[in-house]
This record gives sequence, structure tokens and C-alpha cells, in this order.
Amino acid sequence: MGYKRNMSARRCCPQEKENVFVPEFWWRRFRRYQGPDPWLKADKWDRLAEDYDDLEACTFYRQMVEEIIETMAVRGVLTSQTRVLEIACGTGPYTLRMAPRVAEVVAVDISGKMLERLKQKAREDGLDNIQAIQADWFSYQPQGRFTLVFAAMTPVLNFVETVERMLKLSERYLVLVHWAGIRENLLYRKIHETIFGRPPKAFTATVLNHFNLFYSLGMAPECRLFKGLWVRRRPLEAELKHMLWRLEGEGDLGPQEQEQVRKILEEVAVEGIVETTTKVRIGFVLVDKSA
Ligand SMILES: C[S@@+](CC[C@H](N)C(=O)[O-])C[C@H]1O[C@@H](n2cnc3c(N)ncnc32)[C@H](O)[C@@H]1O
Repeated sequence: MGYKRNMSARRCCPQEKENVFVPEFWWRRFRRYQGPDPWLKADKWDRLAEDYDDLEACTFYRQMVEEIIETMAVRGVLTSQTRVLEIACGTGPYTLRMAPRVAEVVAVDISGKMLERLKQKAREDGLDNIQAIQADWFSYQPQGRFTLVFAAMTPVLNFVETVERMLKLSERYLVLVHWAGIRENLLYRKIHETIFGRPPKAFTATVLNHFNLFYSLGMAPECRLFKGLWVRRRPLEAELKHMLWRLEGEGDLGPQEQEQVRKILEEVAVEGIVETTTKVRIGFVLVDKSA
């Protein structure tokens, strides 16, 4: 009886009238590019470049990146013939792991400081097949097409134009790594509530939109979800810089608010170190257009 009642309630749900098997349903889940917002600008990301590689100290993150690279290698995506276009490469956690296995990586990012770090690490690793290009992805015109078009953890993935261009520029493979609906940092939430009087906005970016779009276009995407904890320990000043960086994406912060953030961090710091834990779920989607 209860089961039947539930079924009839579900039939009345207006969303169900939409056909989730057609690409249009999924295209509507992406934003249309209307000029650079703060998250798509060089200065925003330049500020993060110095500490960006902190994440490599987190076991869950490092294992995830390595498993993604290994999966691509096993599927035959990374070979000595492969030419890669990497969109928004940052300091290169994926670039530097792909480069030793492929012919060339053209790595594009808007942030000069992120690219400086990438170039320095490439030199240290003796890699000479990475072309690091500073450009805004939305106006960048690459030459030719690429065996693999790759993008990880970047806000540019949320736009219709990016997905359209990734599909066009890829000769065979597309790989996306992106949020998959969970990103919960309790300390950030507490600070957000204190400063703005409300919790952070619900987190809607999800790579499952990309997965479903590709599926509805008749492709056979492979998807894997990684769920775990990013545990980071940073000196108080570094954590303060990072928290302010993130909060500024939500609204302006005056000197008084900045002081409030500092006070909260001082309360939780132990011997000058702040430990934060972020519960994350991240998705990896691989498309072989020839399959
Ligand atoms: C969170 S980082 C991810 C970096 C790297 N892919 C990774 O997985 O660590 C986001 C990157 O997107 C880049 N980005 C943001 N807007 C961009 C744009 N319009 N064109 C090119 N890169 C952009 C930033 O500079 C930054 O390096």
C-alpha cells in the first residue's frame, strides 16, 4: 500500500515530465559564458598558486590523482603517440604525471603564477614535452585537434562553451575530473555563518551532468567516484589567506570581518597550526568517442 502511494506521488512530480534521456535536458544544467566572473580571472588564482601544492600532502588526494592516471594508462589513453590538451592545468598535478607517458601536453591556464610553479616543477623533473600557455580558455584558439582533451577541478567546466569545445577538439578521448556534489568543510561553514549570517550556498557543480550529457548523446562514458577527506594543516597566516580567498567569492569583507575570521582561526589553532577537514566526493569521467 505504502509502495503504491509513493509511486503515485512520484508520478505527480512535475520534474518527471522532463525527458532526462535527451541532451537538451543536460545542456540546460550548464551555465552560458557571459564574460569573466571573479572565479575565471588570473588574479584570483595567482593568489592561490604559492600554497596550491599543499594538497599533495593529503593521502586521499594523491592516491586519487594517481589512480586516475593509472586508469587512463590502462585504458590506452596515455601512449607515446598521445597529444594532450589540458585545460586549466594549474600547477600541474595531472600535467606532470601525464607528460612522461605521452608525446606532448599543451597545458593552458589563465594564471601566470600557477604556470610558473608548473614550469619550475617540469624543469626539476627533466620534462621537456610540456607547452605551458598562459591564456583565457574562453578566447584561446588551439592549433588542430588532440588525442585527449583533459580538464580537472576547474570552474571553466561548468560552462556550455567548454563542453562544446572539448567535444570538438578531442580526436578520441575526453577526461574530466570535477566535483560530484559533496564539499563540506565544517570550519568554513562556521566562519561563513558568522560573517554572512547564513550557511554557504548549496553546492551544485557536479560532473554527473557531464556524464549524463555524454550518455544522452549516445556515448558510453566511464565514471568513477572518489569519496574521502582532504585533511590540511597550515600555519595560521596561510589558512587565513585561504579562508579569505574563498569567502571573498561570496561577498565583500571589510577589515572588521577579516579580523573576525582571524579570531576564529586563532581559537582553533594548535601551536600556530590550523587543521581543516573537507569531506569531498569527486568524479572522474572518461569518454572514448570511438567506442
Ligand atoms: C582549482 S584549480 C585546478 C588546477 C588543476 N587542474 C588541478 O586539478 O589541480 C582551477 C584552475 O582553473 C584555472 N582557470 C580559471 N579560469 C580560467 C580561464 N578562464 N582560462 C584558463 N584557466 C582558468 C585557474 O587559473 C586554476 O589554475
